[in-house]
Formats: sequence, structure tokens, C-alpha cells
Amino acid sequence: MSQDTGVLTGHAQAGPPEDRRPRTADSALRRRARAVIPGGMYGHQAAGPLPEQYPQFMREGLGARVWDVDGNEYVDLMCSYGPVVLGHRHPAVEAAALAQDGLADCQNGPGEVMVDLAELMVQTVQHADWAMFAKNGTDATTICCTIARARTGRSRILAATGAYHGAAPWCTPRPAGVTAADRANLGYYTFNDLDSARAAVQAAGDDLAGIIVSPFRHDAGFDQELVDPDFARGLRELCDQAGAALILDDVRCGFRLHLGSSWEPVGVSPDLSAWSKAIANGRGLAAVLGSGAYADAAASIFVTGSFWFSASAMAASIATIGALREQDAIAAMNTMGVALRDGIAAQAAASGLEINYTGPPSMPYLTFAGDRDYELGRTPIMVS
Ligand SMILES: Cc1ncc(COP(=O)(O)O)c(C=O)c1O
Repeated sequence: MSQDTGVLTGHAQAGPPEDRRPRTADSALRRRARAVIPGGMYGHQAAGPLPEQYPQFMREGLGARVWDVDGNEYVDLMCSYGPVVLGHRHPAVEAAALAQDGLADCQNGPGEVMVDLAELMVQTVQHADWAMFAKNGTDATTICCTIARARTGRSRILAATGAYHGAAPWCTPRPAGVTAADRANLGYYTFNDLDSARAAVQAAGDDLAGIIVSPFRHDAGFDQELVDPDFARGLRELCDQAGAALILDDVRCGFRLHLGSSWEPVGVSPDLSAWSKAIANGRGLAAVLGSGAYADAAASIFVTGSFWFSASAMAASIATIGALREQDAIAAMNTMGVALRDGIAAQAAASGLEINYTGPPSMPYLTFAGDRDYELGRTPIMVS
């Protein structure tokens, strides 16, 4: 859900912020972390830039609730920044992971669950004829680019300006430590602007390996923008004309908008898609799915990792997909998302606050009108 302001993290109790338990344990851990962890914390879970009320260290989660290390309870509208789609410690998912743990997780070869999961992913996602697994979304997007280059023998990948595709040098949003060579094979277009994509394709000439795109524009810090189906179809055509790969980055949206690829409802099939976050309900797993035409190229590259074949996360993923289907979870997320949206809109109106509530109901993004520097978003506002 909301990526960088924490405004959608609700405090479970109705009392004012001063009712919360003092942040004694959190403060002590932050002090200790500053001595042994660069910057005290790093990456998207660094709480430093967030409002002071947002905890850095968490202790526990159950269902929709989480507790920080001081015992304060919250409703987890962030879903742990995406992965926890069925709620924390979902019984079927935990049972599957623990049963596999009881056999072995990390072994000298993958468990049979890898084949079971690959079959299930291929059955679940229309465009997929095969599956590979890794650990993080960055692994998956990077592998997609490598496969696109291996198949085409070309270098250039086009990405939307401002889109997030991971934290490797080719795509990290921070310039520190990144060389010009790391970005040399990238070109850029504007999301939902087909003319800009056409111009970027033209600029790539005969060196276009692929176009990477997210299912909707979910750049952190900006109001979200749903995809224009004509734009999605247009990217598909551009890739077909150039013999390049259309890569859908479903890392964030995967299994939140549709139980299949997020562009299935739009009617556009990518050649390759990248997945992670929700596919194992919080267990570390990523996937690359692809069409048959890309299978040989996928087999030709060398990618691997010490923990990429760990069986427990794969068992958790099989259980997650089963539970998503059994619980009709996509429809449930939509229904709850609409209720949340309507409730927040009503409370904002009652409080005289003008808000922008963008994105699909199951992945909303809330900002306050005119609040460019998030001053309002950072301030706890009691609306009841
Ligand atoms: C769209 C998208 N792609 C890729 C990534 C990178 O995933 P990871 O942080 O697991 O490497 C993210 C993470 O937020 C993402 O939202």
C-alpha cells in the first residue's frame, strides 16, 4: 500500500497518539543499530525519514495486526510493504512452510515442490509456459532483462521514467555508487504516453532488447495512474514490430489485482514477467515467468543464488496461491479496498480535508491535496 509516508498504517486503538506505550525498546534498538548498521537502517524499511511516531522495529504479526517492539498494536495496511497478502501467519501457508521445514529447506538439490510450483504458476498465469525462481523482485526484473538480451542479442531496455524496478545498479533510484556504464543500456519513456515510447524505440534503433513496464504507474511519492489499455496494447505492438521482449514487472501488483498476470484483464500478454512480494505470503521468493518463445534463452543464461532453491518458501507459495483461490481473495481485497476508500473519503470530507486517493482499491495511495512536501501526511490527524 502507501510506500513512503506511512499514512495508511492505522493505529488499532482509537486513543490519541499519547496513549501509546513509550518507544523505549525501539529507541534502544535504534541506538544500538546506529553503531553497527550503516545509517542505522537502510533501504525501504528505514524509518528515519518517516514521522517520529512510526516504529523502526517490529515484534510480531497475526492476521491484519502487527505489534512493534514496545507492544503497540497496529492494523497493517502496509501489508509489510506488499508481501503479506493473506494476513500474517496465515494458517495454511504456515503449515505448508513448516511441514517442508520439517523435511529440509536448503538442500543439495531443489525439492519436488519446485516442479509443483512451476506447474501451478504456469496453470495460473496465462502467458506463462515456464517458471524460474529466485529470492527478490530485483532478481526477477534483472533476470527478465538478461533473458530478453540473450534472446535478441541486443542491449537496450526501455523503462518508464520514475518507475521502480529494484535496487541493483541498473535500476536503483539513488545515484550513489552507480556508474554511467550501469545505465548505458537503458532508454526511457513516459508511462501511458505511447508517443514517448515510440520515440524511445526509434532512438534504440536496431538495439532494442525489451520494454519493461509496471501494470499501473505506482511510483512512490506520486498519485497513482491506472494503465490506459491502448498504451498497453501499443507497447505490445512496438515489441512485436521490433522483435523485442515485453516485460511486465508484476513484483508489486502480482496476485493483488488478478489471480494471473495483472494485464490479463487488459488483454495484453507480456513475453516475460517478474514476480515477488505476495507470491509466498511473506516468505522470500521471486519468480520469472515467460512464454515458450523465450524458453531457450532462459535456459541459456546462468543465474542462481545460494537460497534460490529453498523449498519452504516454494511450499508456502503453493499454499498461498491455493488460499488466494479458495478465499476468492482478489474479489475480497477489492471489496475491502472500496470500503476503506469510501470510509476514508467520508472521514476526510467530514474533517474538511481534501485528499487524493489514487490507485486500484486493493493498492491505494493517499496524499493530501496541495501537500507536496508531505507535511500533512506526516502529521497524525485524529479523525474520530
Ligand atoms: C515494481 C517493483 N519492482 C521491483 C521491486 C524490487 O523488489 P525487491 O525489493 O524484492 O528486490 C519492487 C519493490 O518494491 C517493486 O515494487
